[in-house]
Amino acid sequence: MSELMKNIEMELVSYLPKKDEYIGNLVSSMEYSLTAGGKRVRPMLVLEFARLCSGREEAAMPFACALEMIHTYSLIHDDLPCMDNDDLRRGKPTNHKVYGEACALLAGSGLLTLAFEAASSDKAVALNGAEKCLAAVRVLSEIAGAEGMLGGQIIDLESEGKKVDADHLRIMDRKKTGALIIGAAKLGCIAGDATPEQTAAAVSYAENIGLAFQIIDDILDVTSSTEELGKPVGSDNENDKSTYAALLGIDECRRISKELTEKAKASLDIFEGDTTELKKFADYLLNREN
Ligand code: IPE
Ligand code: IPE
Ligand code: MG
Ligand code: MG
Ligand code: MG
Repeated sequence: MSELMKNIEMELVSYLPKKDEYIGNLVSSMEYSLTAGGKRVRPMLVLEFARLCSGREEAAMPFACALEMIHTYSLIHDDLPCMDNDDLRRGKPTNHKVYGEACALLAGSGLLTLAFEAASSDKAVALNGAEKCLAAVRVLSEIAGAEGMLGGQIIDLESEGKKVDADHLRIMDRKKTGALIIGAAKLGCIAGDATPEQTAAAVSYAENIGLAFQIIDDILDVTSSTEELGKPVGSDNENDKSTYAALLGIDECRRISKELTEKAKASLDIFEGDTTELKKFADYLLNREN
């Protein structure tokens, strides 16, 4: 795992543009958030599904990095004063606190754009072929856009201060957080040579851990400390967010997350390859403390 992490960190920065005297500040701001740490959950999932479907790590890496760039962009924008207005991310001041709001907005957009450059790069095409790269670009567009993460973010904002039911929260979380995790499974399957049946199983795993992931995120916002989390606790309460934790309470949320994790692990049964790591990963995400 730590070897994989190292490789991800190295490849991520390799796509950043050169810092010249004109765009240096923008590139520094993109680099600041991209290298601030983070669990790298989504790229790890891409690489693990690729491995499970007989793909090569090297070939899956541009897709894994593209997804992490989109995730990092979503965090930069999520923290802006016009959204969640948070000052700390990955244990450091948020991008807009360091570079200002305008530059943070552009850095987020820069990372979103860079994702498509990575997934369609000469390196990605040489390792995967143009057809797989096109499929990857298609997945990245779908999961990031209005029907994916962005759609979830608008539901999140428009649900602040409102009474919404569990179905509404499930749809919101599936989009704002589930979409990118489902994307990780799909990208891994593309880089490997997954059958449609394997892809469906991978997506089912991702749907379940994706929802559990956001529920745990909401729990940690209540139960953790800012130091442990690397982002401000109590942010959801301050913004009057509609979350599972607020609607159902911590104990019920823990029960639901466990159930989702078990369901996720069970969807892997159709694979002939070794699914131990993905099962362990689901448990790690369930029991994580940041
Ligand atoms: C935070 O994601 C945003 C959510 C979707 C809940 P992560 O918890 O994966 O954040 P990093 O990448 O580790 O900082
Ligand atoms: C964010 O959900 C999901 C994104 C698409 C970024 P949150 O707003 O709960 O994420 P955190 O808690 O700020 O990381
Ligand atoms: Mg948010
Ligand atoms: Mg937030
Ligand atoms: Mg949160």
